[in-house]
Amino acid sequence: MKLFTPIKFRNIELKNRIVMSPMCMYSAQEGVANDFHFVHYGSRAQGGAGLIILEATAVEPRGRITNKCLGIWNDEQALALKKIVDFVHENSESKIGIQLAHAGRKGSISTETNRQLDLEAGWETIAPSPIPFHHSERTPHELTVEEIKELVEDFRKAAKRAVDAGFDVIEIHGAHGYLIHQFLSPLSNTRTDEYGGNPENRARFLMEIVDTVNAEITNDIALFVRISGTEYAENGWNVNDSAELAKVLKTKNVDLIDVSSGGNINGVTIPLSPGYQVPLAEDVKKIAEIDTAAVGLITTAEQAEEILESGQADLIFLAREILRNPYFAVQAAWKNDEENFYPHQYLRAKPAK
Ligand SMILES: Cc1cc2nc3c(=O)[nH]c(=O)nc-3n(C[C@H](O)[C@H](O)[C@H](O)COP(=O)(O)O)c2cc1C
Repeated sequence: MKLFTPIKFRNIELKNRIVMSPMCMYSAQEGVANDFHFVHYGSRAQGGAGLIILEATAVEPRGRITNKCLGIWNDEQALALKKIVDFVHENSESKIGIQLAHAGRKGSISTETNRQLDLEAGWETIAPSPIPFHHSERTPHELTVEEIKELVEDFRKAAKRAVDAGFDVIEIHGAHGYLIHQFLSPLSNTRTDEYGGNPENRARFLMEIVDTVNAEITNDIALFVRISGTEYAENGWNVNDSAELAKVLKTKNVDLIDVSSGGNINGVTIPLSPGYQVPLAEDVKKIAEIDTAAVGLITTAEQAEEILESGQADLIFLAREILRNPYFAVQAAWKNDEENFYPHQYLRAKPAK
């Protein structure tokens, strides 16, 4: 099966095409990973995923969605992440990545109510333009050019810490209506300076981040960008914009576009069905001629295989399915008589052929 064939990005070889998609666990204190994260990510490595991407990890305190999100703006946070990275490298064949993120106007959310915290309990949110995600929320602070430059620098420092912690992949979170997506979309970015207006200007923040992250990494780390292929809104960000963006990202040495969707415009209808975002990954792949990842309601090895075989995407990201079943890769390999990593400590439990 193609699902169990290796693929290389720069010097990083993934043993199979199964990726644990980034998923916020809202379980950190002060942005620091703890025993929960260690077991959570460690068990997906034991389960044989080709790549594990840690949840959205904020590059500065305001970049968290909630005050229980992971962060990588200080050494204590980086050290806790290194423990997870080292475990995965020493005990599995999985590679491990981190998703660097900034929530922008979608930050300062309560983990209890899922609504925005007031200023005292949370923090002032930031955005390219003073437009809240939901009318019930506070108006975000409109970033100055100087502040935008500081945020790019936050991404650089975070990338450096990720390199030092030993990650194999950095994924920049440009999807789901978080800060980078807020810049990309003409509906959330109404700036009139060099960061707003035409598509090139709206992509400037992302491009500066890509450049600064690339300057911190070598060929021993692959660089992915997650985007929302469309935001399902009239006059909003769409799949053509995504493909055009991907063409430019390709020239900037980005290795793969991870194509999700939505998240920036409140109240839109998302046409959910199995593999509903796969056509977006396919379009981006074909138009921009760049490797892509498919994600969203992919739940079986057969479905994943079909996506790969038909050339719609190069990697399969699993989110909820791999929460339900950390051993997805191991079990799919057994079922299909494919070779895959399996912890040697558990060999006595391996089904006889
Ligand atoms: C609990 C949970 C947390 C998530 N957190 C993130 C995140 O941190 N970053 C991100 O890009 N997507 C996040 N997502 C989206 C998933 O990565 C994935 O794109 C989405 O769930 C669709 O895939 P699925 O149908 O396999 O679950 C999250 C999804 C879930 C279920």
